[in-house]
Amino acid sequence: MILLDVGMPAMDGLEVCRRLKSDPATRLTPIVLVTGQTDLSDRIRGIEAGADEFLSKPVHPHELRARVRSLSRVKHLIDDLDSAEAAFVTLALTIEARDPLTKGHCERLASHAVRLGQAIGLADDDLEALHRGGYLHDVGKVGVPDAVLLKPGPLTADEFELMKRHPEIGDSLCAPLQSLRRVRPIILSHHERLDGSGYPNGLRGDEVPLLAQIVGIVDVFDALTSKRPYREALATEEAARHLLAEAGRGRFARNHVEAFLDTMSLLLASTVH
Ligand SMILES: [Fe+2]
Repeated sequence: MILLDVGMPAMDGLEVCRRLKSDPATRLTPIVLVTGQTDLSDRIRGIEAGADEFLSKPVHPHELRARVRSLSRVKHLIDDLDSAEAAFVTLALTIEARDPLTKGHCERLASHAVRLGQAIGLADDDLEALHRGGYLHDVGKVGVPDAVLLKPGPLTADEFELMKRHPEIGDSLCAPLQSLRRVRPIILSHHERLDGSGYPNGLRGDEVPLLAQIVGIVDVFDALTSKRPYREALATEEAARHLLAEAGRGRFARNHVEAFLDTMSLLLASTVH
């Protein structure tokens, strides 16, 4: 945790606080602002800068010790959650590694989803959820039998039913983690389609969470452009045309598909043909 005086030469404590709280690497570190004034507006500006606690000068040693103890306790809890999330990401990457044909899928998905999110002007916390969702969307595949997951061919109807359980398995795995609450809708709904033809809940239109729609689009693109045991990888232009056709059938939002193809410099290539 960090004890920060508000009044400092050059950059003041409020600005330091703001910068630390906007950097993903440091934003979970508790910050106590030490302020000379008991001015309310100072505190409000401190809250806006993301400070976790305030101490007024002169600082009483007992109070200081109590605050440090309680915030350290909170930080330890957060670190535990962080490591639980890291364990899930490791699990997701392990699942991916079992199938050599899906190598790099999670990483590509994370970066493509963020690019599409940026293209349609989403806020930073949505972009972060997309990044984590890219890695974690298929974590529920841990509950799908290897014989189905690694089958070198198209699935039978029964096998597909087993495969279709992975979004709900993933969602319930991540449910205890408060830090993943914004990522869970991506995990649960990345196979939903706007026309209601997706799974697991057959959601329609706006019922499909926006971030899940985005991951759904880039997931399909990545699947099409990756080699499968029963078919070669599609050329990117061909995959682009397929996505546009899916949008035409009402399964994806056309403007999102176009924005994605635009970020991949594929929009013109796919409409010229
Ligand atoms: Fe999936």
